[in-house]
Amino acid sequence: SATLKLLIFLYFARSLSITTPEQRIEKAKGETAYLPCKFTLSPEDQGPLDIEWLLSPPDNQQVDQVIILYSGDKIYDDYYQDLKGRVHFTSSDLKSGDASINVTNLQLSDIGTYQCKVKKAPGVANKKVLLTVLVKPSGTRCFVDGSEEIGNDFKLKCEPKEGSLPLRYEWQKLSDSQQMPTPWLAEMTSPVISVKNATSEYSGTYSCTVQNRVGSDQCLLRLDVVPPSNRAGTIAGAIIGTLLALVFICVILFCCHKKRREKKYEKEVHHDIREDVPPPKSRTSTARSYIGSNHSSLGSMSPSNMEGYAKTQYNQVPSEDLERAPQSPTLAPAKVAAPNLSRMGAVPVMIPAQSKDGSIV
Ligand SMILES: *[C@@H]1O[C@H](CO)[C@@H](O)[C@H](O)[C@H]1NC(C)=O
Ligand SMILES: *[C@@H]1O[C@H](CO)[C@@H](O)[C@H](O)[C@H]1NC(C)=O
Repeated sequence: SATLKLLIFLYFARSLSITTPEQRIEKAKGETAYLPCKFTLSPEDQGPLDIEWLLSPPDNQQVDQVIILYSGDKIYDDYYQDLKGRVHFTSSDLKSGDASINVTNLQLSDIGTYQCKVKKAPGVANKKVLLTVLVKPSGTRCFVDGSEEIGNDFKLKCEPKEGSLPLRYEWQKLSDSQQMPTPWLAEMTSPVISVKNATSEYSGTYSCTVQNRVGSDQCLLRLDVVPPSNRAGTIAGAIIGTLLALVFICVILFCCHKKRREKKYEKEVHHDIREDVPPPKSRTSTARSYIGSNHSSLGSMSPSNMEGYAKTQYNQVPSEDLERAPQSPTLAPAKVAAPNLSRMGAVPVMIPAQSKDGSIV
């Protein structure tokens, strides 16, 4: 039986085989994963070389999906929308025995079992690669939950915004002796440190490092443990200061307003006329009206487009008209818009032509 096994081994060893062992690969989102698949051929393998990579997504609901194919000396890689443009053979000469691929810009949706199938009749072989994509910890925030007063209880918290589990935490003191307070040592590797009966010796700068298998992130925290009375005094001082500042600002605003009103009264006539001119409105509507007129030339006339169009017309009024506009109250944008709106709705076909003429109806 041992001889038989050896014979079988020799027989199979001589035919096509994939030399890379089955493996698991773990990478961070956004990185490139190299999925190896090296093979050796035997002299008996005379058929054409075919290489195929399949993906089985982790949920068994979906069937295996071809993601890249080499057949008849050509590469085909436009099979799977989710991986479009992100799968490539790494070797320029696949016949040399390297069918490895790179998957670039990894996404969480790329997680799954990848299968490399090599065929050169009569030889066939396949091998699996398990790919996991993890998110690096990032956006980590360190903060104190509670009030940092002597004798108080509060919490130091370390919270990453994102990051794949499992996450490891580590707190360190950066200032003074760099020695973590002894009562905290048990929680040095936890996301939350519960501080009991705080003393001023706890004050200092701390860091929290969050780590998972693909990356790490860090945040800093400045802790100031102060006497309660001191803190109350500080808060009261801050409130009084703020109130005084507010009163001061109010007085200044009142004075300015009064002065401006006096000035305005002197120049009332000129001012009022200028304020009726709507230049900022027509300027801001320019971008929108372009979109509006594009839409209308395509024949789509939603109410918002029409409004935009109405403004276009106002903008496209020949220069003499525009100069006259401020003096003529009937040309105020709101008043022009309404009648034009209804007219346009009634005869949408005429609009592009009007637009070309650049004249107001
Ligand atoms: C494939 O990806 C690896 C990194 O994982 C990189 O070193 C290698 O150059 C890439 N090969 C090609 C052909 O892009
Ligand atoms: C808090 O700490 C002080 C010394 O720092 C100690 O005298 C006091 O008994 C402690 N209080 C409690 C409730 O542990």
